[in-house]
Parts: sequence; structure tokens; C-alpha cells
Amino acid sequence: MAMQTYLVAGFNGGAGRSLTAALLAYGLHLQDRPTILVRQTCSGLLSTIDPLETTLPVPCCELTLPAPYALPSDLTAGLTTMIHGADARFMTALQQMAVAEVGNEGNVVVDLCCNERALNAATMRDASMILLPARASVFEVDWAVRSFARARDIQRYRDAAVPTLLATIVPDSGRTRQMHMLGRMLRDSDPDRELLPGEPSEVVVEVPFLDEATLTALLDERPIWQDPLLSAQCRAFATAAAVRADAFMTMLAEDDGDL
Ligand SMILES: Nc1ncnc2c1ncn2[C@@H]1O[C@H](COP(=O)(O)OP(=O)(O)O)[C@@H](O)[C@H]1O
Ligand SMILES: [Mg+2]
Repeated sequence: MAMQTYLVAGFNGGAGRSLTAALLAYGLHLQDRPTILVRQTCSGLLSTIDPLETTLPVPCCELTLPAPYALPSDLTAGLTTMIHGADARFMTALQQMAVAEVGNEGNVVVDLCCNERALNAATMRDASMILLPARASVFEVDWAVRSFARARDIQRYRDAAVPTLLATIVPDSGRTRQMHMLGRMLRDSDPDRELLPGEPSEVVVEVPFLDEATLTALLDERPIWQDPLLSAQCRAFATAAAVRADAFMTMLAEDDGDL
């Protein structure tokens, strides 16, 4: 199997990207394929001291999102968008880094920053899957749905579909409520089912939910990853994401067939 690139993205801070990326990278690592976690950094943003990198039993690297091309100010908005969309410098650098770290057949999980250029058309084109975390509150679900609509819009415009999943982060007690909210917002943002022909539940994958005690242990840099339950959950998460990704492509193919 060729290298697989998993993008964890979203346009709001605190969405759950870094933890989701770490949980997925760990699950893939446990499935015995060489895996690295790459944290995308954006110039101008402070990087934090991060207990994920110090505790996670998966190699972690950082790679900076290049500054935008300096374009003449009299270019049309359409042309400017097209040029920024075609900017593949991050993915080219990522590929080189990944080959050096895990060879040609590994997994690369990328924790993208929330800059709007992070998930451009060129970055999506080379991805195997895009995960958009959605936490419990209505604002966070709204952000996740907007990120989904934007990612699918770009894919449709370029005719380059990539499995795009909502990675839900809620305790079991909040699942039904969140799914209801997510379904309604997805439908409202896409009344003609152009972005999502199937059911909202078909693009949802559940992220292992860490309780307060586990989050605190992580913050204290205690080795939470050795817990057999968490290991099993991460492995199951990686498997579920792959199953959903395959089903996503089938869903789009069937929808095309219907036309
Ligand atoms: N899987 C999870 N289980 C429980 N809480 C989570 C989970 N993922 C994220 N969170 C909560 O969301 C916060 C922000 O997550 P983080 O991954 O740092 O977001 P981002 O990288 O998008 O800024 C965490 O500090 C934690 O409180
Ligand atoms: Mg983060």
C-alpha cells in the first residue's frame, strides 16, 4: 500500500484537532504500519509546550505552513483564490519528510493549523482522508459543519473527492443530542444534497472520548497511552475511520450512478 496521508483539520481553535490526530496516529501505529504525526505550525502563532509530543509512542515532527505567495494586489479575487488553492508547497515538503521518516509505505497523520490556507485544494488532493473534529457545543458543531461544507465544495469544484469525515468528540451521554444537531445543520447547509448525498451518520466517526482524569494525566505528562482500554479504542477508531472512508467513496460513486 502506498503512503497514506490523514489530514485532521478545522477552522476554529480548540476544535480537538491535536488530540484527534494523536489518537488516530496511535491507533494506526498499533496496527503495525510505520506512522508519524506531523504538527503543522503557522508562523505568527505561539507553539505551546505539548504533552502529546513528550508522551505519545509515535514519532512526532513539526512542519511550517509556508507564508502565502505575495501576489499583485490588482489580481482578480478568482485568480488569487486559484493560485492560493494550487499552492502545494506544504504537501511537497510533507512528502519528503514522511519518506525520510517512515519510507514510502507508511502513514502520515497531519494536525493542520486552523489557518484557512491549511486545507487548500492542493493539500486535499493528495490526502487519503480528511477528519474534521466536532466537539459537543452548538458553536463547535457549527464550525465543523462549515469546515465540512467548505472542504466538500472545493472538492466538487475540482472534481477530486476525498473521504471527508466528521470526527465527533462527546461523552456517550451527549451522543444522541450531538448527532441530532449535526444532522440538522448538515442538511440546512446542503439542502440539495450536493455535498453529502447520503445520511449524515455516514460521515461520522466517533473519536475516543477522554475523561477529565485522563486529560489531567496527559497534561501532567503521565503515560496514558499504555492503558489497554485506550489502546483498544484508538485501534478501533483507526479501523472505523478506514471503513467510513471506503463507504464515503462508495456513496459518491452510487450518487453519480443515479444521475
Ligand atoms: N478526544 C477527546 N476527549 C475529550 N476531550 C477532548 C478530546 N479532544 C479534544 N478534547 C478537548 O478539547 C480541547 C482542545 O483540543 P485540542 O486537540 O488541543 O484542539 P485543537 O488542536 O483543535 O486546538 C482539549 O483540551 C480537550 O479539553
Ligand atoms: Mg492543536
